[in-house]
Amino acid sequence: MTRVLVLNGPNLNLLGTREPETYGRETLADIIARLEALAGERGAAVVAVQSNAEHELIEQVQGAKAAGFDAIIINAGAYTHTSIALRDAFAAVTVPFYEVHISNVYARESFRHHSHLSGLAAGVIVGLGTLGYELALDAALRRHPSR
Ligand code: DQA
Repeated sequence: MTRVLVLNGPNLNLLGTREPETYGRETLADIIARLEALAGERGAAVVAVQSNAEHELIEQVQGAKAAGFDAIIINAGAYTHTSIALRDAFAAVTVPFYEVHISNVYARESFRHHSHLSGLAAGVIVGLGTLGYELALDAALRRHPSR
């Protein structure tokens, strides 16, 4: 069975009430429920972890291979733009990852235009709202179909 780790970084626990004009009104629980349903239809499984702490995200990435994950979907929130340590964690493991941003970061402040992660990602989905998570999961499951 294909297993996908879905990581969400700082402030994404506030989805639904956080800047709804930018991030919409869906909660993270709504998003994860849809990913679980989609994975279930495809004979796959998702495990979702949200953390506001950089080191916890790094530890999840470090452990992903040993935990048997085939792919990672990550919205690293603001750590996208700041965390060389998170990039280094992805460089150290061989698990392919898909970077998701709900908003179009390129249409926002210039400090959001650079991602430390994108250069290592299998794919990047930006600005398609919460649909981006499902598109990333679809991409991951096409690359790693459940047998
Ligand atoms: C975000 C974009 C980031 O710039 C921001 O810090 C977030 C959310 C997005 O999903 O659009 O927390 O990753």
